[in-house]
Amino acid sequence: AVVEHTFNVGNLSISQLCQPARIITAVNGQLPGPTIEAREGDTVVVHLVNQSPYNMTIHWHGVFQRGSPWADGPSMVTQCPVQPGANYTYRFNVTDQEGTLWWHAHISFHRATVYGALLIRPRGGAAAYPFSPKPHREETVILGEWWNASVYDLERMAFLTGNPAGPADAYTINGKPGDSDNCSTANQTYTFRVRRNETYLLRIINAALNTPMFLKVANHSFTVVAADAAYTTPYETDVVVVAPGQTVDALMAAGSAAGRYYMEASPYDSAVGATPPFNPTTATAVVEYAGAPAGGEPAKPPRPPSNDTATAFRFLSNLIALVLPGKPTVPLAVDTRMFVTVGLGVSDCQPDQLFCNRSRTVFSSSMNNASFVLPALGKPSMLEAHYRNESADVYTRDFPDRPPLAFDYTADASNTATLQYTTKSTKVRTLRYNETVEMVLQNTRLIAKESHPMHLHGFNFFVLAQGFGNYDEAAAAPGFNLVNPQERNTVAVPTGGWAVIRFVANNPGMWFMHCHFDAHLDLGLGMVFEVQDGPTAETSVPPPPLDLPQC
Ligand code: C2O
Repeated sequence: AVVEHTFNVGNLSISQLCQPARIITAVNGQLPGPTIEAREGDTVVVHLVNQSPYNMTIHWHGVFQRGSPWADGPSMVTQCPVQPGANYTYRFNVTDQEGTLWWHAHISFHRATVYGALLIRPRGGAAAYPFSPKPHREETVILGEWWNASVYDLERMAFLTGNPAGPADAYTINGKPGDSDNCSTANQTYTFRVRRNETYLLRIINAALNTPMFLKVANHSFTVVAADAAYTTPYETDVVVVAPGQTVDALMAAGSAAGRYYMEASPYDSAVGATPPFNPTTATAVVEYAGAPAGGEPAKPPRPPSNDTATAFRFLSNLIALVLPGKPTVPLAVDTRMFVTVGLGVSDCQPDQLFCNRSRTVFSSSMNNASFVLPALGKPSMLEAHYRNESADVYTRDFPDRPPLAFDYTADASNTATLQYTTKSTKVRTLRYNETVEMVLQNTRLIAKESHPMHLHGFNFFVLAQGFGNYDEAAAAPGFNLVNPQERNTVAVPTGGWAVIRFVANNPGMWFMHCHFDAHLDLGLGMVFEVQDGPTAETSVPPPPLDLPQC
């Protein structure tokens, strides 16, 4: 079937946190934007109509885009942006994946307000879920961040100064901050209405720009059944941990007595070292049973400490796949091995940078000390340059397989000898069609260590192992899960630690890999895989759609 939507991106007047109403950019006047509901195998068609004053693109986070690389969405990677007043139609299939994905703007910080859910049910509908009990109802739970200032202005300032934007003014559940906003004038709390003894499938999405979250509901626990639209072996927990970019599908059983309970989304602050300013508040929603006695404060869940790395690691490393017939299995032969550092550092000032410290350096972030910068507006997108064999002016093929220096990655940052400056550049790693890649993602502590949610476009990858400290192959390899590792599109590399992932490059195109903290992406924490064409037309990048935005 074809699932068709029109997304009018335009102004929405909204009042939050007791502030006067102000104008944000949103899709169809909604925050969060519309939910796309599809079945596995459907074709999704979205007409983007840009009525906003900003350049815009939309990314379908987690959709493989096999055969439709022009619909992936990251600005200047797979397309030039849709200019104010212009249109573009995204057309893609959702095959071989089921569960919760989402969509968001992929330019500037616009995804702070331009985001929504993309739900993929089995071909047989909800009756075909490979878990039980089957839910009576489903609810989407989208976690976000809210700024009182224009996120476009925040991003421009952060980009020009090299100083990351400050913390959000509030966290939100389905667009609403909850009881941290005590204005009596508007209902700022989202309410989930439930019935006794029913089971709910919560589709939890972390759409926050820069903050991993803990999610709890007082007096209720969860059974996790999927993450990043890949089924997991059922996992019982009273807390869900979800990093920006990630999704979790969890069953929640309503009890036998009617009551009112808080759902709380509280931040996980993994940074150790030069800790950035941080908003410790909590977003709340209310789970309200039909027939619950009126009045009284809902029960509150116990809140994990904001630096609770043990809880985050336990949740994220305990998930394993649900092995189903016909699903991809871990490739055992590896063609390319990469060891890639992800972290913060310094780089030389750029000519267009407004502020620079006295040593002419700026804060930056990088992978293998390469600090990624998107091609400038006006150049072709990277995918167009690739397709036309005209990359020379747009990117270089020298992204390194190893960091330039080997050192103690997770020791204190006091050793400035290891602070090697990086220069901003647009480097890609070229892969042959169908080659198998293993990447060790190693967090560093040059400035601060932090759990970076690393997202790969165009693929799911298997997470074979995760741990703390410096990666030691001899010690780690025997522990690789090659049988039923979780499949993800975003892995939260443990703070001061590492994760090992594997994927098959079976999707020709240009695929962004980056930290899903927008603050870090701007500073350069990204790279692009250039996957070459396969032997047939079906395994090659197709010609661009006729309405592809002009650069
Ligand atoms: Cu959800 Cu490149 O991002």
